[in-house]
Amino acid sequence: MNLTKRHEPLLVVDFGGQYTQLIARKARELNVFAKIVPWNSPELEREWDEAKAVVLSGGPRSVTEPDSPSIPEDLLASGKPVLGICYGLQLIAKLTGGRVVPGKTREYGEQTVGRVSASSLLPERFVAWMSHGDAVEEVPSGFEVTGASEACPVAAIEDPSRRLFGVQFHPEVSHTEGGKEILRRFLYDVAGFQGDWTSTNFIEETVEAIRDQVGPQGKVLCAVSGGVDSSVCAALIAQAIGDRLRCVFVDHGLLRYREAEEVCQMFRKHIPAEFIMIDASEQFLNALKGITDPEEKRKTIGAEFIRVFEAHADELQGCDFLAQGTLYPDVIESGSPTAATIKSHHNVGGLPDWMRMELVEPLRWLFKDEVRQVGLELGLPREMILRQPFPGPGLAVRILGEVTRERVEIVQQADWIFREELRKAGLEEGIWQSYAALLNVRSVGVMGDERTYEHPIVLRAVVSEDAMTARAAEIPFEVLQRVARRIVNEVRGVNRVLYDLTSKPPATIEWE
Ligand code: XMP
Repeated sequence: MNLTKRHEPLLVVDFGGQYTQLIARKARELNVFAKIVPWNSPELEREWDEAKAVVLSGGPRSVTEPDSPSIPEDLLASGKPVLGICYGLQLIAKLTGGRVVPGKTREYGEQTVGRVSASSLLPERFVAWMSHGDAVEEVPSGFEVTGASEACPVAAIEDPSRRLFGVQFHPEVSHTEGGKEILRRFLYDVAGFQGDWTSTNFIEETVEAIRDQVGPQGKVLCAVSGGVDSSVCAALIAQAIGDRLRCVFVDHGLLRYREAEEVCQMFRKHIPAEFIMIDASEQFLNALKGITDPEEKRKTIGAEFIRVFEAHADELQGCDFLAQGTLYPDVIESGSPTAATIKSHHNVGGLPDWMRMELVEPLRWLFKDEVRQVGLELGLPREMILRQPFPGPGLAVRILGEVTRERVEIVQQADWIFREELRKAGLEEGIWQSYAALLNVRSVGVMGDERTYEHPIVLRAVVSEDAMTARAAEIPFEVLQRVARRIVNEVRGVNRVLYDLTSKPPATIEWE
């Protein structure tokens, strides 16, 4: 699916900066289609050629070092509007004959920047997020200095005739006051983007592209989990080809209370495709018998999925394409050397041969927030779109020790109570994930006149941007107390409730 042909993109050249994805996301929020390409990509010149404008990102290196990341000099003479951010600004300065030197002091954090000459981008005075050591000492000829801060006399430069612009600060981070307006001016006023990247356009174009790819007869198989990505992926394909899409949902018995039912209802009601539900809970529980090691649980579950697909081959075979809910961050990461470790727990390797079909990946250009937007626009219910991420191995990684039907039920009940109380307290929206886990130690308690010797439940609720880091949600004490009281009273086999305060890192979001 080549959206580049329809939307001349903003090209974001990545020099390894921590905010590179944010640049692309901010552009998308401004309805501009943005693509990220590493500075050393063999495709860089072609991508540059196809782009309407370019942003050069920040990066951890220094342009004063030998062999620092760079781009062919003549690209800057291509006439395309270019905005350099931080490292990007320094690179523009270096390549056009200026001089960059290691700064006397590192400037980090919020600084006030003032406009010092006519500028197409900057407001008069604003607080900006800085994070740099080097500084431009000699401004290349043709450029005007347009912004300065106390510690950074060259905080912004512009050469409107060559359409080259640079800012030392980061307009893409929310700490930069008016940062989005600066990007808007670059994209709309300087580069002439029209703002045609909207979810409505995306849906129309993608539906058309799916029809092109699949043809008038082709059938698509889509394994769904009830999660946002696979649901939106299925909804888009269903919009394109209706019941030539076959969705398969495997209930491994390790879902949250009532979740399997909800997923079935949601698909039957909102997604006009063929829907096959396979109840394999018995099979998964049998396979997990006696297993206590977290990695072994994961592997067993992955292998069991494959067995289920093999066992149901008769029902499932006959499709020509396999749908996958790959998102843009996965596409970007799979080009980076760290991809293997980042994604290892998502891999369900060893698909049966008949499942190795041509892939349909309608979400591969989207960030998560865009997927949600598309889902809402396709008419999927809000509770489905806002559903928390849920691990593939399900409650198995929230039950420490052996997974048995009784222990699954204990976790489901405790988890349900926690969710219900968070919902009643209006706390759900700010929370990234919240769940109950069951530990495999026992402690002494007293209930009525009886001594108890039972297992504790741990409550975990975190706030996070992307699951890479997270911190414990600040849930009011009385809500936690109410949850604890209810769990101990209502869930048999639990006599103690704990709240996990650890952030990630050093802990992880899941307990296993
Ligand atoms: P951790 O526990 O590593 O989790 O901090 C980060 C995010 O990934 C989810 N997660 C998984 N997702 N298969 C998945 O599809 C898995 O095996 C798995 N393990 C963790 C977790 O829920 C969190 O959102």
